[in-house]
Formats: sequence, structure tokens, C-alpha cells
Amino acid sequence: MKNKIKKCLFPAAGYGTRFLPATKAIPKEMLPVLKKPLLQYGVEEAIEAGLDTMAIVTGRGKRAIEDHFDISYELEHQIKDTSKEHYLTEIRDVITNCTFSYTRQIEMKGLGHAILSGETLIGKEPFAVILADDLCDNDGDAVLTQMISLYEKYGCSIVAVEEIPPEDSSKYGVIAGEKIPSRAENDGSSDSQLDWESRLYRVTDMVEKPDPKDAPSNLAIIGRYILTPDIFDILRETKPGKGGEIQITDALFEQAKQGNVIAYKFKGKRFDCGSVNGFVQATNYFYNKK
Ligand code: UTP
Repeated sequence: MKNKIKKCLFPAAGYGTRFLPATKAIPKEMLPVLKKPLLQYGVEEAIEAGLDTMAIVTGRGKRAIEDHFDISYELEHQIKDTSKEHYLTEIRDVITNCTFSYTRQIEMKGLGHAILSGETLIGKEPFAVILADDLCDNDGDAVLTQMISLYEKYGCSIVAVEEIPPEDSSKYGVIAGEKIPSRAENDGSSDSQLDWESRLYRVTDMVEKPDPKDAPSNLAIIGRYILTPDIFDILRETKPGKGGEIQITDALFEQAKQGNVIAYKFKGKRFDCGSVNGFVQATNYFYNKK
């Protein structure tokens, strides 16, 4: 029987240089889209997917994250029983519905290294990873909820992918894969619950930030993963790759060689809030939606 996924890892130690000077003293993950910090959107997505343990990898200058997911007694005291109390409802709900634990990535050696730094919080169980600067939204099940259902069926690592313009390949990890035949295709079923099954690929190749001419496809990995815990041993052995960083893509490729990685073309929208353009698009989208 597969372990149920309860924990979500949030690598949040990066410098966020593309958002300087805003990110000089404020973590990028705390930048708000409308009124809510990016990281809170991520935590809410994890709670919606049924996870209750949030494991956050932070770095120097990121203390605002811990303060955000904690009670502010002074604030609580000031606004208790006033007309402003409802402004705290959303974050109170988050705090009471899950637990938070933190560890620090001492040196910023890349996303793979940040995930390995989180091992102490995760242990030997499968877990989800959310990169909070990839903000996702879907009218039906959230992206992580979709992926958890898939994990329950396939029991291996899963990466969320989306189609990108070929010229953008050097910003992402790009996969090649073989389509997994869906039940819907086999038996002609039109059940919409089977729809996601036509979006699955068994990964056969993965390349971090390839030049467009070297990209194995136009399917790019975005900031949602389900990982099996053997990834930690693989990461320990993974040498620095593209940009001199330890890349999660390189570690996942080792699992893929054993047939143990599925790519899932998720349902929903994704905004790259690590870039100014994506951040503005997300802000406009959520403003128009509210
Ligand atoms: P990014 O490369 O998008 O984040 O990493 P960054 O390095 O903070 O951004 P720029 O390029 O300087 O503007 C993707 C995710 O991985 C985390 C980041 O916090 C972000 O959530 N990360 C990256 C780490 O936690 N540690 C690292 O060493 C690198």
C-alpha cells in the first residue's frame, strides 16, 4: 500500500534577484498578488489537496515567512471584536489547518540542493513540492489535487508540465515522454473523470534549460512535483549541472531512466511570478476574477 502524501515542501531560499530592490529585505515568496503573499497561495493549494504539514526551506533574510504563518498577538489584541477582525480570517484558517516546520539552506546551490536540504523535514515518505513563485489557478481541482490523485494511482514521481513556445525552452526543465494510453482511449469511455489520463507521459528524457535547438519537446516542467523519497539519495550523488547548480531535473532523470517519472499536462493556469511580466499578469487575472 502506498504511503499517503501528507507533507509539502516549499523551497523558498532563492535570492529573487529579478525582483530587486523589492526583495532586498522581503522574501520573494512574501510579495503579494492582491493582498495575499505568493507563499500563502501555495500553502492553501496544499491544504486543498489534503496535505497538513508544510515544510519550508528558507535562507537568511526570510524571517518574515515564519512570522506570517504565526499568531501576531498584538494585532489579534488590537482588532479583536472590531469591524476589522474579518481581515484576519483567511490567514487564521491557514494557521489552524496545518503545521509549519522550517529549515535553512545554508548556501544557495540550486533547487535540487534546496530540496535535499528539506530531507530533515520530510523523512522517508513521498511528498509534494510547490514553488510558490509559480502561481496556479483552476476552476475545478487545484493542480496539486490533480497530481495527488495521479500519485495514488501510479505511485511514482510526477512532474507538472505545460506547453511553452519553443524559444522559451532555456528557462525550464524540458521533458520528452511517451504518451500513456488512457482508459478513455482504450474503451471509448467519455467519462470526464478519465480526461486527465489523456494528459500523461512516461518521461524518457529530461534536459535542464536547453537551447531551443536541443529541447526534446515543448513540454516544460513547472513548479509542482510529487517526489518519492529515494530522490534524496539521488540528489546526494547529483553533481552540479546547468549554471553550476544542483538541478532537480538531473536527479529526476535518474528516476526516469527506471521508468519512474510521469509528466502530467495539468488543467489550469500558471503564472510565472518570479518574472515581472508573470507577476503583473497574475495580479490582473486575480483582480478581474475577484
Ligand atoms: P528561481 O531561480 O526562480 O528563484 O528558483 P530565485 O533564484 O530566487 O530567482 P532569481 O532568478 O534570483 O530572480 C525557483 C525556486 O527555487 C528556490 C527559489 O526560492 C524559488 O522558489 N530556490 C532556488 C531555492 O530555494 N534555493 C536555491 O538555491 C535556488
